[in-house]
Amino acid sequence: MALHISDDMLAEIRNAADIVEMISARVYLKKAGKDFVGLCPFHSEKTPSFTVSQGKQIFYCFGCGAGGNIFNFLMRYDGVSFPEAVQAVARHYGISLPEKNMSPEQKKQASEREHLLALNHRVMQFYKNILLKDSRGQGARQYLKQRGMDRQIIERFNLGYVPEGWDNLIRFLRKSRVSMEMAEKAGLIAPKKQKGYYDRFRNRIIFPIVDISGQVIAFGGRVMDDSKPKYLNSPETPVYHKGRTLYGIHEAREQCRSRGCVFIVEGYFDLLVMHQHGLKNTVATLGTALTRDHIRRLSRAAGSGDKKAYLVFDSDEAGINAAKRTIGAFLEESMEAAVVLLPEGHDPDSYLFEHGPEAFDRLAQGAPSLFEFLIENTIAAHGKSVEGKVRVMGEIAPVLAEISDPVARSLYTRHLTESLGVDESAVLEKVRETRDKPSARSKRPGESKLSEGKGPEKGPAAREPLQDRLEVQVVAMMIQNPESIAEVEERNILDYFEDPGLQALGKLVSRQLKQEQAGVSGMLNHVEDEQQRRLLASFMMEDACWGRESCALLLSQFVQCKQRRKNDLLEQIRAAEQSNDNELLTKLLSKKQKQAAGRR
Ligand code: UTP
Ligand code: MN
Repeated sequence: MALHISDDMLAEIRNAADIVEMISARVYLKKAGKDFVGLCPFHSEKTPSFTVSQGKQIFYCFGCGAGGNIFNFLMRYDGVSFPEAVQAVARHYGISLPEKNMSPEQKKQASEREHLLALNHRVMQFYKNILLKDSRGQGARQYLKQRGMDRQIIERFNLGYVPEGWDNLIRFLRKSRVSMEMAEKAGLIAPKKQKGYYDRFRNRIIFPIVDISGQVIAFGGRVMDDSKPKYLNSPETPVYHKGRTLYGIHEAREQCRSRGCVFIVEGYFDLLVMHQHGLKNTVATLGTALTRDHIRRLSRAAGSGDKKAYLVFDSDEAGINAAKRTIGAFLEESMEAAVVLLPEGHDPDSYLFEHGPEAFDRLAQGAPSLFEFLIENTIAAHGKSVEGKVRVMGEIAPVLAEISDPVARSLYTRHLTESLGVDESAVLEKVRETRDKPSARSKRPGESKLSEGKGPEKGPAAREPLQDRLEVQVVAMMIQNPESIAEVEERNILDYFEDPGLQALGKLVSRQLKQEQAGVSGMLNHVEDEQQRRLLASFMMEDACWGRESCALLLSQFVQCKQRRKNDLLEQIRAAEQSNDNELLTKLLSKKQKQAAGRR
């Protein structure tokens, strides 16, 4: 989003505001040295790593990496947009911010969300009426009955039905004077090849997807026979993001909090059937892998006490690979994780109808921890032969390396060595090896890399460790000693960057710090990307002393490293030519061209 509140206005508000005062109203802060610290509101922790710098007017959490200026804090904490955050600060400090400071574009965006949510709500009612009252809903009512669903559950989750036909919803929308553009944006209709639109959902049972506060953000629809696809879901829209959404969270939140635990199932019907059997602390991922974001949301919903998540799996295959990558996230959220493995051929839906909730509870009580489950599962896959053990170590070491808490890591390591019957020091060595690799997650400021964490789905990026670190260090240096920027520019250092995110960040820093004397925190207003902002805030928080000499040293290291890589590339090109590998040659040449372009 481009910034339309004038920069002068922003600077005035920033100068009047005090980040410590604004945050103190929301988080308990204690003075520690020249900074203030408190328990991070964005992840759960027992010792404070959330740091607010009054001098720099920024916050940064050394635990989870959240960071930014006062506006970024309010956006995240209060869940508001940038203009709304600016308005809140202005209001607090008695600065009047005329509405005309909001660009038409911004006004549109703010109200668009509301329009989409309101539209979804009406559409939910439309589908629901057909299911409950319309004669055309007869077959669907029959279907739900045959699947054992109680009327109460159907109503509580606002299920609906849409009959066969291409324009059932469209006719309703026209009658209600809803614009087709808006309905398309909501993912409810899709444009025809020629002209006009058609209903996305046809002849399906409808499941409204509701966010934690009860707003309808999307829909899912199931066919009632064997046609494909079995389920159809809304596409991503301005109000619906798949990887952040947990079906049923609104209905489950209270029970999650009071019981301190939550069941995570996969499907729509699994969730409904769990709730119907009184297991109301259940949410569903809707067939996607569990993400870090999901876990963070669940942890928040479960409150501040002890909390536990039960991952309910149909079979050991499904989900376990994805679950591996969530061990670290559960630890960071201080949330225990256990695995409920259902007997072959069952999902929660079929299991509960066949065996009842008590049997399910017994399964949950005996559920192994996620880590135990992972070890057992990996051993079962590879066996305990020497080769098997080596493979098990190879698979589990990266998981251990992800664990940032050293105590937890060592306890888990002990667990692994005992299960495998190998020497603990061997495992420790393997874990250390993995941690030292660039792909291992690192939380220290200045070491987190932009390419990571962009999406939880993303695997570790294979990249040159040294190169990577040097690029990070150059940007950190530019922030911590702006005097170095002149030389960075003179030597065109940024043009040689390989990480496009870091390159963009470097350019921003050099542009901003040259013109904006108002201080570093204002720079954060120009960074939209969450990862970039975190990185920037972490650099700002560090008090590294960059003398003239260390700057020069870093820059010449950087140039040397580049040179070496260029020579390597030439060497590879020669080899590819000799072996007549044309495909490789083309690739290398285009890489070479890119380098040359960077030098322009
Ligand atoms: P399953 O295929 O395991 O179906 O998909 P299910 O949940 O047991 O459904 P029923 O019992 O046959 O009705 C699990 C989940 O994956 C998503 C849905 O969220 C589903 O509930 N899914 C599945 C889709 O999004 N699209 C599909 O085509 C299939
Ligand atoms: Mn099922």
